[in-house]
Amino acid sequence: MNPAATSTEPIERGTVRVRDLRIETAGTDAAVLVDGVSLDVGAGEAVGIVGESGSGKSLTLRAVLGLLPSGVRRVGGEVAVGGRTAMVFQDPLTALDPLETVGAQIAAASRANQPDAGSGWGSRRSPRAIAAREHALELMRTVHLPDPEVRYDWYPHQLSGGQRQRVVIAIALATRPDVLLCDEPTTALDVTVQKQILALLDELRAQRGLTLVFVSHNLAVVSELCSRIVVMRLGRVVEFGETGQVVARPQHSYTRALLDAVLVVPSVAADGGAA
Ligand SMILES: Nc1ncnc2c1ncn2[C@@H]1O[C@H](COP(=O)(O)OP(=O)(O)O)[C@@H](O)[C@H]1O
Ligand SMILES: [Mg+2]
Repeated sequence: MNPAATSTEPIERGTVRVRDLRIETAGTDAAVLVDGVSLDVGAGEAVGIVGESGSGKSLTLRAVLGLLPSGVRRVGGEVAVGGRTAMVFQDPLTALDPLETVGAQIAAASRANQPDAGSGWGSRRSPRAIAAREHALELMRTVHLPDPEVRYDWYPHQLSGGQRQRVVIAIALATRPDVLLCDEPTTALDVTVQKQILALLDELRAQRGLTLVFVSHNLAVVSELCSRIVVMRLGRVVEFGETGQVVARPQHSYTRALLDAVLVVPSVAADGGAA
């Protein structure tokens, strides 16, 4: 399932283990982009990776997904995942097909993950198509999209930003993942909607035992959802610990700077936040 997993040790379903991950640019002048990153996530746990832009968060997450972008390669370390992974990206508009209804997109993700996908695609009334539609509607309810029967036939542009991100999460859930990887999934949303999406992710974790690895440049967002936090800077882990510990007693000046950066946000948001 996960091409980056090289460990032969068995790993418990829903857990993630990263050891000494090292990623470089693929060219001859190989630059180190991720250096010695280790990470353990237990089943049903939410762990956050936080750091400024360019610190290596997305590459680390892509390595867990087993799909590094072109131009970079994993040159060291080990990545092991128990079970299936799915990814939720920052921008739901680019993740969705603008010309297809959201219901059809969720149903397609569901059908693609059936064991005998590929046959019987023709008829909309085939048993498989009906099952995929039912599964899509169930997923739309799971992510709390209002009136799923109606919204099934809507196109992405007809939904709000928060609703679009719920559709993206439903598509990720259609693959029945054990581990959900979230790359800045709320960064494009305003503060109120951001909190609703965080609440949804926390609900999925608490009620379905979904494991979350959540990446954000915003320490406040990460600390709202995650019980443990990894702080990355320039491709390395500079701090790691329980969320309460990291927020109350940051050990690294960089973590303190990240904290200071978000502590000024609420007053700014209160002035300018358009819900
Ligand atoms: N496909 C790529 N090819 C070359 N360099 C990349 C690629 N993707 C990311 N990088 C570089 O790797 C570093 C870490 O990137 P990334 O993991 O995306 O950071 P973050 O998600 O923390 O903002 C950055 O310096 C970025 O420019
Ligand atoms: Mg990123």
